[in-house]
Amino acid sequence: MTEKHFIPKAYKNSAEKGSYTWSSPSNIALVKYWGKKENQIPANPSISFTLNHCKTTTKLSFSKKENDDEFSFDVFLDDEKKDDFKPKIETFFNRIEKYLPFLKDYHFKIETANTFPHSSGIASSASGMSALALCLMSIEQALVPEITNEHFIQKASFLARLGSGSACRSLEGDLVVWGKHDQIEGSSDLFGVKYPFEVHQNFKNYKDTILLVDKGEKQVSSTVGHNLMHDHPFAKKRFKQAHENLSTLINVFKTGDIKTFIEIVESEALTLHAMMMTSMPYFILMKPNTLEIINKIWGFRQKTDSNICFTLDAGANVHVLYPENEAENVLEFIKNELVVFCQKGEYINDKIGFGAEINL
Ligand code: DP6
Repeated sequence: MTEKHFIPKAYKNSAEKGSYTWSSPSNIALVKYWGKKENQIPANPSISFTLNHCKTTTKLSFSKKENDDEFSFDVFLDDEKKDDFKPKIETFFNRIEKYLPFLKDYHFKIETANTFPHSSGIASSASGMSALALCLMSIEQALVPEITNEHFIQKASFLARLGSGSACRSLEGDLVVWGKHDQIEGSSDLFGVKYPFEVHQNFKNYKDTILLVDKGEKQVSSTVGHNLMHDHPFAKKRFKQAHENLSTLINVFKTGDIKTFIEIVESEALTLHAMMMTSMPYFILMKPNTLEIINKIWGFRQKTDSNICFTLDAGANVHVLYPENEAENVLEFIKNELVVFCQKGEYINDKIGFGAEINL
């Protein structure tokens, strides 16, 4: 399949105005996407757990406008006008216009709200871009009612990817793969797909407690971050490693081998940060408290034989991952020993979810 698959035929129907609302979750990568080629094509395949509570809800209202020579839209976050969000959305619209040729025909009002605080250091681009992509697909469906549900979701993921790479993993499924991988049939660089193989009971309802170590704005934008992988001395080896780690995870998910799961997930997190530390320019995005937490987690694991582990985004916050049957003990540990390292003691309890609230 190529990009062409997502260019629609001429629209037969029309719509004057209306509005659609969608909710879409954030996700946390187990094998990380870090490095991309032209047109938001990932340098390596990635896989993520979809989250359940960290969500963005977006209402997209549209009305036909007179001229069709430019994009016209306003953005609101929690009812407050957010002009600083506009450049990112303008870039998104420019990238997707080819696939949604109606974009310049309407004025849009984009009203968005997150279940997590905007200044939590939790990236809202995955949930935000996927929710917006779904709203746009609802408009397309009004123009082409015969769109199948499969195409709807796949194209929503395809469009979301063009807004923010990781957003294409937020549409459907608890485990989502994005990026072509030899052993994963149907995997694609163009959109995310539900992980197609067996997943052991051990990984059902997995928990993710997000420790908010640093709630500030991102120190390195994702665009700058991904670009650091161009000409990076270890890039080639790293991209190969991502393929290998995903291969190993296939067996891990099948057999329920949590020990190997932990090794891969923690190694991926540290590798992501190692890539940043060894690029030019270089960055350290962990904070002293990130390291305190990691060491505490390792200590607790050794002492109690728990299956707790951590992963990281491109920032200082720590995602603590653990199986459902350990929730009580781990939460006790988090409250007693880790919360002190969080900014204002804040953390978010989440778990694996199943994607956007879809009712097609
Ligand atoms: C470290 O999806 O935010 O979270 O495509 O430039 O929007 P853009 O990047 P983005 O990168 C996410 C990187 C990551 C790892 C991951 O989610 O796989």
